[in-house]
Amino acid sequence: MERAKYGAAAWAHLTGKLPNPFPRIMGPNAMKYLQEVVDSGLTVNMMGRFERAFAEKIGVRNCIATPGCTPALAVMAAALGGEPGDEIIVSPVTDYGTLMGIIRENYIPVFADTEPGSANVSPETVEACITDRTRAILIVHKTGIICDMDGINAVASKRGIPVYEDACQAVFGKYKGRYAGTLSHAAGFSFDSEKTMGADVGGCIVTNDDAFAERMRFIGQSRAGVQKPHFGRMHTEPGYAYRMPQCTAAICLAQLEIVDENVKRRDEVARLISKLLAEIPGIVPHPIPDYVDVYSSWMLGFSLEPGAFRCTTEEFASQCAEAGIPGAGIASYYLMPDALTFLDKNARAKRYPYSMPPASREYRYGEAVCPTAREFLSRFIRWSTICEKYTDEHCHIAAEIVRLVADANRA
Ligand SMILES: Cc1ncc(COP(=O)(O)O)c(C=O)c1O
Repeated sequence: MERAKYGAAAWAHLTGKLPNPFPRIMGPNAMKYLQEVVDSGLTVNMMGRFERAFAEKIGVRNCIATPGCTPALAVMAAALGGEPGDEIIVSPVTDYGTLMGIIRENYIPVFADTEPGSANVSPETVEACITDRTRAILIVHKTGIICDMDGINAVASKRGIPVYEDACQAVFGKYKGRYAGTLSHAAGFSFDSEKTMGADVGGCIVTNDDAFAERMRFIGQSRAGVQKPHFGRMHTEPGYAYRMPQCTAAICLAQLEIVDENVKRRDEVARLISKLLAEIPGIVPHPIPDYVDVYSSWMLGFSLEPGAFRCTTEEFASQCAEAGIPGAGIASYYLMPDALTFLDKNARAKRYPYSMPPASREYRYGEAVCPTAREFLSRFIRWSTICEKYTDEHCHIAAEIVRLVADANRA
């Protein structure tokens, strides 16, 4: 069995005619901030500096920096305050990091289906999953395309259910003039090395709710530890030591200074490639809704029209990769009800929290859920993550590769 690879190691084998994010552009002040950490003998509070800078830039009251979004969302799940067996409605097309905290806290993930032709959930698909056990809704903006958050918030607020965002793939993307991650009660971000702000492993949570922020700091960064006079540290509940390392904070700070120009370029590149792909018969670019003012694109994608080509989606993708699109491939692994094989096993075996109680009904995963998402992904080809290094010429080269592969495989 081959272990999954992460970060630059996952990209090392890629060749092609197009750029990929590695080696990363670090930002002009990266070395200066790293040097400060070293020169200070670790006494500088680079994490705090990054938290304040990120909060100010995105326009929220609190930022809690973590060593990644998987830990960020684990902290958020731990701070939610629900009961084992409560349900969290979650997007089905995402990364495992969205789910890990929910599962560890013994919540039950309920996957809302995607809206037709998209990798994102919609107000309607979310509403269809709400039950008396719904504790929260966790929305993912897949590939950087922001979900219809006004609609989702309206559906949730009717039932008094809080909404959270996993904004990992939409860093500084804008929805109706507002940043992704500020469209709900709280949001998690990733600054992992291949993300829009790449800093090896890193992440954060943002929220305007001061009490919730303090609770997440307590559980997430202080291991739920309190100082008791005449005793010392006491831990009043389970907690984590998920503080962002000082050197990561230094790199994040440097990345924050170049993120605007990077996101602007990603938006232009994604829109140009999408326009060029739309001109190719049989190819459907991933739709960008009008309400997305800034598409902070992290991973492009396009779909094959049913019946348009003789080859399979996987064959089409590998021909694109061979012709020069680095990392072109299928995206089925992003379908969490299928990829997290232990969920269905545990649900069928009624293993805690699927035992009743705490669960109040039976659950199934895999083929039993999200038919629209499964059908969409069966025809979807993901690009490698795109990046700010693309020139307009790269966009034309990319579209030409897809056109040539399409012409060679027409039904
Ligand atoms: C949507 C989404 N959620 C969560 C994660 C996990 O983030 P991290 O690698 O920082 O833990 C990722 C990373 O790929 C992601 O894309």
